[in-house]
Amino acid sequence: MSEPTHLRVLLRDWLYAIRTPAALCDEAPEPSALSIWDPIHLGVDEHSHPVRVTLAYRNMLLAGEPGAGKSVGLNLPVGHAALSTDCDLWLFDGKLVELGLWRTCAERFIGPDLDDAITACQDLQAEMDRRYDLLDAQRRRKITPGDAAHGFRPVVGVFDEVAYYSATVGTKTQRETFSVLVRDLVARGRAAGIIVIAATQRPSSDIIPTSLRDLFGYRWAFRCTTDSSSDIVLGAGWATRGHTAAAIAPEDKGVGLLLAEGGEPRRIKSAYLSDEQVYALADRAAALRAGSTP
Ligand SMILES: Nc1ncnc2c1ncn2[C@@H]1O[C@H](COP(=O)(O)OP(=O)(O)O)[C@@H](O)[C@H]1O
Ligand SMILES: [Mg+2]
Repeated sequence: MSEPTHLRVLLRDWLYAIRTPAALCDEAPEPSALSIWDPIHLGVDEHSHPVRVTLAYRNMLLAGEPGAGKSVGLNLPVGHAALSTDCDLWLFDGKLVELGLWRTCAERFIGPDLDDAITACQDLQAEMDRRYDLLDAQRRRKITPGDAAHGFRPVVGVFDEVAYYSATVGTKTQRETFSVLVRDLVARGRAAGIIVIAATQRPSSDIIPTSLRDLFGYRWAFRCTTDSSSDIVLGAGWATRGHTAAAIAPEDKGVGLLLAEGGEPRRIKSAYLSDEQVYALADRAAALRAGSTP
């Protein structure tokens, strides 16, 4: 049964009410540093309530058709992480121009070279193993905020178009090496403070096999062309229960279904940062980070 027209219009209007927290606004008077342990603002839900998620000990997958709003959505956790002087940012961007705006805030920035991407993932894996050895030696299970003082900062690894590295460039062996590394980071990284955020415009089972998808605590499905590709992002069965990103209108850029561990998918509209705002935030974050380096 379809909703009455006035309700649909109202819902749509609410979705378009973009609320950006002061800390992520150009006009914020004196931006202080954020923390990666704090909730991250992503946008608003259908009731105009802010939607915020905590990334610590979690990974996030964003997927949907080209132009659906993934890179804009990605700017929100990346912006928050950039302003969080208690984490490191490793950015992987085959196109250079999406995450490139945050380059000055990144400890590592990896462009289109697949060998570079593999080396960076191996370095991250080695760091993860080092942390597990130390945790084990200290009879502890996971990194906590207090560990920053001992050099254990959370690392946020962000991939804009993970399929570029895992399915497009290089040789089959290189692509497989990359995919195995990413899977290991997503599977084992959380307790070691390694947070993976990956976006892809190819919501298909070869790019996001079920076993990998299930490791992402947050799944954000932007517009997909079919119910089955929406289910590949969110999980099998959601489309038949009425939650399908194929129902998002093509003109509804930035609208997506967000599934957080254990919950139901929520229809949300991502906050929007213009390029000017991103540059202003990146400059500010770079200055904050320079100040925080001992
Ligand atoms: N939350 C949003 N609010 C307003 N416009 C948006 C929003 N998200 C995306 N858009 C528009 O859609 C365009 C494509 O978004 P983008 O994130 O680049 O798509 P994708 O990465 O999925 O290909 C953007 O350039 C912007 O104009
Ligand atoms: Mg994009």
